[in-house]
Amino acid sequence: MNDAEALKKIAGEAACEFVKTGMRVGLGTGSTVKYTVLELGRRIAEEGLEIVGVPTSIATQELASEVGIPLVQLGSLDGLDIVIDGTDEFDPSFQLIKGGGAALLREKIVAQQSAAMVVVADERKQVDCLGAFGIPIEITPFACDVTVSVLASLLNCQVELRMSESKHILTDNGNCIADARIGPTITDPVATEASILNVAGVVQVGLFNNMCDAIVLATTDGVTTLMKPNGRL
Ligand code: A5P
Repeated sequence: MNDAEALKKIAGEAACEFVKTGMRVGLGTGSTVKYTVLELGRRIAEEGLEIVGVPTSIATQELASEVGIPLVQLGSLDGLDIVIDGTDEFDPSFQLIKGGGAALLREKIVAQQSAAMVVVADERKQVDCLGAFGIPIEITPFACDVTVSVLASLLNCQVELRMSESKHILTDNGNCIADARIGPTITDPVATEASILNVAGVVQVGLFNNMCDAIVLATTDGVTTLMKPNGRL
């Protein structure tokens, strides 16, 4: 395991501290929260932890099933106690860019139903100003090239559809996904999110504002948990 992978594992496992028996847990998507899912599975098997999970992608659903986390439909619950998820960037105000793994729509639906959100990250994700990563945007396949042009004009930057072998990459929801190469310039992520969501054809955008309550951050010096001032945890 290389250093970057080791940091992901440390962060992913440390976040399990937030999970107690009886909780309804949103299970995020990505290579960091994968370690959270694996650790929760271990605690269920070895320590008698009792939880139910709601996965945010087909990949997480498959992994969680493999490791024995009981899964339920979001609609069968009256909300979730917590969601643990990864991020592509976070800023000093705990605002996030997510969706590098194309799971942003389900991730945001689950996050909105959660009483608290814990993010797992390594130090590469910490930024002063969001945007270097690019903003993932899920859009309808219908006229996706037109929607991309509208977004490029709106944001005054390149917006690229994700492709694989000349075909659009599709999300778990059957939509296209594009990345807005806006650069580290997002000083008002709430306004940027609203303006992108206003474009017809946009299904959801990977700006997660005012959702994250804590960040379990792995650095080469160890793991620290950053708590959002006046957050929900
Ligand atoms: C999935 O669409 C994303 O939101 C991920 O949570 C995010 O890209 C972080 O993934 P990694 O932990 O793999 O970097």
